Amino acid sequence: MDKNFYITTPIYYPSAKPHMGHAYSSIIADFFARFKRIDNFNVIFLTGTDEHGLKIQRAAEKKNMDPLKFCNEISKTFEDLSQTLNLTNTDFIRTTEIRHKESVQYLWKELEKNDDIYLSKYSGWYSVSDEAFYGEDEIEEINGVKQSIQSKSKVEWMDEESYFFRLSKWEKPLLDYYKKNPDFILPNSRKNEVISFVKSGLKDLSVSRKSFTWGIKVPSNNDHVIYVWLDALTNYLSALNYPNTNDKLYKNFWPADLHLIGKDILRFHAVYWPAFLLAAKLPLPKKVYGHGWILSGEEKMSKSKGNILDPIKIIEEYGLDPLRYYLIKEVSFGNDGNISQERLEDCINSDLANNFGNLCQRVTAFTIKNCGSKVPKDIKFEKEDLNILDRYKNNLSKIREKINNQDINFYIEFIVNSLFEANKYFNDQEPWNKKDNQLRLNTIVYTTLEIVRKICFMLYPIIPQTSLNALKIFDIKEKGINFSTIDNHSFLKKDKKINKIDILFKKIEKKSE
Ligand code: MSP
Repeated sequence: MDKNFYITTPIYYPSAKPHMGHAYSSIIADFFARFKRIDNFNVIFLTGTDEHGLKIQRAAEKKNMDPLKFCNEISKTFEDLSQTLNLTNTDFIRTTEIRHKESVQYLWKELEKNDDIYLSKYSGWYSVSDEAFYGEDEIEEINGVKQSIQSKSKVEWMDEESYFFRLSKWEKPLLDYYKKNPDFILPNSRKNEVISFVKSGLKDLSVSRKSFTWGIKVPSNNDHVIYVWLDALTNYLSALNYPNTNDKLYKNFWPADLHLIGKDILRFHAVYWPAFLLAAKLPLPKKVYGHGWILSGEEKMSKSKGNILDPIKIIEEYGLDPLRYYLIKEVSFGNDGNISQERLEDCINSDLANNFGNLCQRVTAFTIKNCGSKVPKDIKFEKEDLNILDRYKNNLSKIREKINNQDINFYIEFIVNSLFEANKYFNDQEPWNKKDNQLRLNTIVYTTLEIVRKICFMLYPIIPQTSLNALKIFDIKEKGINFSTIDNHSFLKKDKKINKIDILFKKIEKKSE
């Protein structure tokens, strides 16, 4: 049977150009997509832009631009960033596309048909920046300005006719679902926040706006546009051609395996989204993971705070793979993390150039000189060789399990340790002192080459381009990378020519030293 995997990033607001926080969500999603692909899954990886609502309308007005033209421009910068980050997304959805509009209006009609939507009036606080409603107990006043306690974004009073979704009706079914599916919300610390929010009582949710027009119209009442979050969340379905539930994409990939999002938008994904789906009698996604923030100093990096770091600039200075490696390794997954140029340079010099790059160069140079540029043929594994090789075999299913629990920290730690051990093995075995024992020399070389191959396979989801550059040693192309082979100690064909490769990472001369 085919194994399918559907992963999504949030769709980004094209209110301003992308920053490091957005790059982070996307790179992590790409990591999972690539891992699953090399583990023989068919992967749909969706990203895109969330283009309706007052936030975008105002951003366009500020520039005196028609909102669609404005979105076209900025959405393009997100699409370009996908390329720059070497993402393997299989689709890029824009909520201004017809396919999406049709899905949203259909879903709306389903909710109406099932009596989950009614017309009333909303009076309360609204943050345009978050596109979210807040209760009195969720706001504070600082210097005469009312703001959300949680996000610190300004709120404004809203008083208008609005359609409501009967969110309150779904309180119990949601709690039941969380209980039955303990992994639906991860990490656990965040799950508890969501559960207490739901337990504290859900109020019906305003799901339409009348005071502006930039959005998808309510099908039965064109004076209203659909609330931007109901519109945006539906992107996960519209990309699978919903409402055509007979469509192959929908049939094979819904429900989504993983909605990867930032912790600030967990409520929308773990409460509102499953409630909409329950009301529409659709299956719920399997997992929502709320990752931490990239901080700038103590604060979340965000455009409104003016503390953004441009991923493109970092990539221009250091290269893409160092940035991908750094974000995956140094921001402990699930927690917030700071970006520091110094730590990034340390990662490049120590992990990437020294521990990985050097190892590849050393073993290839040694093979060229001492084994006729070929993968050695006559070998005999000893205990110390099997010790290091067996680590992969013994951990194969554990690594899979950890990835299924989004434990990226385990994965990267495994690689860092593997690199350390591989270097230690090569140094301790001293193949340069075994020239009078060709069998032993061959075996050490074979073992080290096998380890390099395994590490390259495991590094592929993190630093894809460099992994492919290193795999040129063995003439292994992208299609040849298969995670299930990391337990095979005899994957490399004996007597096959190996190739010299270019330097993988240049060391950075540290400004701070
Ligand atoms: N448009 C909504 C999402 C709709 S999904 C149906 C949105 N967009 S956003 O552009 O504001 O944020 C998109 C994602 O980027 C969120 O997951 C958010 O957490 C993430 N990040 C934005 N700034 C961030 C950091 N500084 N650090 C890490 N991720 C952060 O919300």
